[in-house]
Amino acid sequence: MFFIPLFSSNLVTKKIGHRIEYLRSVDSTNTEIYRMLQNNEIQPGDIILAETQTNGRGRRDNQWYSNPGESITCSMILEDNDSLLIKKLPLISGISIIKGIKQLTNIECDLKWPNDIIYNAKKLGGILIEKKGNYFIIGIGLNVNELTLEKSIKESTLSLRLILNRSIQREPLLAFILNHFENSLNQSLEAIIKEWESFCAHMHTSINFRQSNKLISAKFLGLNQSGEANIKIGTEKKVISSGAIEL
Ligand code: BTN
Repeated sequence: MFFIPLFSSNLVTKKIGHRIEYLRSVDSTNTEIYRMLQNNEIQPGDIILAETQTNGRGRRDNQWYSNPGESITCSMILEDNDSLLIKKLPLISGISIIKGIKQLTNIECDLKWPNDIIYNAKKLGGILIEKKGNYFIIGIGLNVNELTLEKSIKESTLSLRLILNRSIQREPLLAFILNHFENSLNQSLEAIIKEWESFCAHMHTSINFRQSNKLISAKFLGLNQSGEANIKIGTEKKVISSGAIEL
């Protein structure tokens, strides 16, 4: 059960999260929020939160697993009314989750490019951003109170409860994340890039970069002025905007 009044009492945003649609089960909150947008049932700043997803979707066509009632699985819709938003969103969504977790639990998580939330190199959460016409859909998946994780991803994932050894209230956690998210929207891209790099788990370290099923050894140099990743393969510098990094 997600207790909306407890969520709302911790929310201090101007626009984001004041209307929240709470669903027991849905295929994917990203898919559902788009359906609602097409039916004029939703406005920018609104949130959909589901206890269970039957077809949770991750980046790069991966499936997203979460245990019913234990995680945060939600989507938000924003209008593309600022040319820098496309660069800011992938960065500030990760940053705001890191800050929200720190505020509630004191746990210091890291970011893995572009926006995986990690702790001790294990994944706690991820973000799926989709552009639909003049709107962005931002989907957040965060493992919160799971004691057991899906078999196929057990070795590489973690939940906040497994770190802290106690259960965590999802309501203030989501509110804190959205508070930080709205604050960051008004920051300059330059400041956002700096902050993202300060949370990055692999600045100036060796990484493996996966693109089209090929794994390439590289060094991560940081973000460029567009928020894309600068990497060095051998002596050659490259800019990457898609793919995945393996630590
Ligand atoms: C990733 O790391 O691959 C991104 C995972 C994003 C999962 C969230 S859960 C809520 C929203 N609905 C979805 O179907 N996906 C996103």
